[in-house]
Amino acid sequence: MDVKSHQPNRSDYITVARLHCDYINQGFLASLGVPFLTLLYEAIDKDSESVLLVERMDLKIVGFVSGTQGSWRIYKQLLSKPLRLIYSLKSCLLSPPKLYKIIELLFMRRDSNISPNLPRQELLSIVVDPAYRGRGHAANLFNAICYHFRKEGVTSFNIIVGSNLHRAHAFYTKMGSIPVKEIQVHKGACSVVYVKELS
Ligand SMILES: CC(C)(COP(=O)(O)OP(=O)(O)OC[C@H]1O[C@@H](n2cnc3c(N)ncnc32)[C@H](O)[C@@H]1OP(=O)(O)O)[C@@H](O)C(=O)NCCC(=O)NCCS
Repeated sequence: MDVKSHQPNRSDYITVARLHCDYINQGFLASLGVPFLTLLYEAIDKDSESVLLVERMDLKIVGFVSGTQGSWRIYKQLLSKPLRLIYSLKSCLLSPPKLYKIIELLFMRRDSNISPNLPRQELLSIVVDPAYRGRGHAANLFNAICYHFRKEGVTSFNIIVGSNLHRAHAFYTKMGSIPVKEIQVHKGACSVVYVKELS
C-alpha cells in the first residue's frame, strides 16, 4: 500500500495531485494546480520525516493519505528546487492574492502557529476517489498512517479540516479524533483542528 514500496514514479504523484485538486477543491493548495501539487507530493514522499501512502485496487490508485512530522521541512525541500517550483507555479505568478498566499505558505512557519500545546505531527491530506468511498479504503489509509506514526515513536498527531468538509468531519470523528480548536489557516477560511491520540 505504501507508494515507497512500489517505486513511485512521476505518474503516481500526478494521480495523487489530481485526486487532491478534484476532491479537496475548495482549499487554497488546489487553486495552485496539478503541476504544483505534483511537486508537493513528490517532496512529501522524498522527505524522511514525511509520508505518502496510497491505496490501490488492481494497481489503480483509489486514494491516498499524507502526513509529516514538520511541514516546514516539505516547503524547504520545495525551495531547494527553485526553477521547478517557479515553473510549476507559472500560471499563478500574475495573481497578487495567490502570490501573497504562496509566500505565506512557503515562508511563514505553520508548525508552531497552530498552538504550542498541540502536536507538530500532522495528517496533511486524505482523499478517496468518490467511486470507492464507503468501502473502508479511507479507514485503511487512516489506520496505515497511525501505524506509520506509531512506528516513528509519535504519540499523537493533528489534522486541520476545512469547516465545510462535512463528510471528512464525520470520518475523523468515527476514527477517534477529537476536535480541539478552530483556526483560520488563511484569512476568512475557518478550519477545525482535530487531535488523534495513538495509544
Ligand atoms: C474524507 C474521506 C477520505 C472519507 O472517506 P469515505 O470513504 O467517504 O469514508 P466513510 O465511508 O467511512 O464515511 C465517513 C463517514 O461520513 C459520513 N457520511 C457518509 N456520507 C456522508 C455525506 N454525504 N455527508 C456527510 N457525511 C457523510 C458517515 O458518518 C460515514 O461514517 P459511517 O460509515 O459510520 O456511516 C472521503 O469522503 C473524501 O475523500 N472526501 C473528500 C476529500 C476530503 O474532504 N478530505 C479531507 C480533507 S484533509
